Amino acid sequence: MKKFQVAIDGPAGAGKSTVARRLADKLGAVYVDTGAMYRAIAWRVLQDGIELMNEKKISSLAEALTITLDTDGVYVDGLKLTDEIRSNQVSLLASDIAKIAGVRKALVKKQQLISQSQAVVMDGRDIGTHVLPHADVKIFLTASIEARAQRRYQELRAKGESTQLEVIHKEIADRDENDRKRTFAPLRQAEDALFVETTSLTIEEVTEMIFQLCRNKLGGE
Ligand code: DC
Repeated sequence: MKKFQVAIDGPAGAGKSTVARRLADKLGAVYVDTGAMYRAIAWRVLQDGIELMNEKKISSLAEALTITLDTDGVYVDGLKLTDEIRSNQVSLLASDIAKIAGVRKALVKKQQLISQSQAVVMDGRDIGTHVLPHADVKIFLTASIEARAQRRYQELRAKGESTQLEVIHKEIADRDENDRKRTFAPLRQAEDALFVETTSLTIEEVTEMIFQLCRNKLGGE
């Protein structure tokens, strides 16, 4: 299979992971959820009781850990993590540790390595700008903050978590600000990325639209 690269970036709750996973299936590529890698490090930082200020230790951890992505979760040194990395506490810490240059360097290296040996659909915040600057297809997926908060709220409710829409709205707004304003590889649209606004579109519509775009660009693979 030709080792093509599809990069999907955008803010939290824009539907990146669902679209990227479905797209990878349709294209016969591997889905790489880079957010899960930042979340896995954040989870370990909490487990090990490391202070956020201790950037050196967190960077060394990011370098040393073996992180493997699978369709059913992320493995950290062989330990499978699923729901543990989706809590609000981990979401917020992941956004904070993602500001640390050493953490980004270590994870970007792992992400680039994965894409060397196989066709990938990779989603995150800096894929089109830093991780895969020569990706065959680049998409910047976004939606209004109201729509993103509503989607995340429904998702958590469906899982049986009791939460409030206003709280989710504030957390997403804080995380957006954190991800956009950081010094190293902030969230931004790559110049050659296609901007896709999903507020009034369904996941199926978005997936189909990007799939057709990929087929055109990749020559019908
Ligand atoms: O996509 P997500 O919500 O699972 O990502 C969790 C956090 O990880 C997000 O707030 C910012 C960070 N992240 C990043 O900085 N770069 C990436 N490529 C992916 C995620």
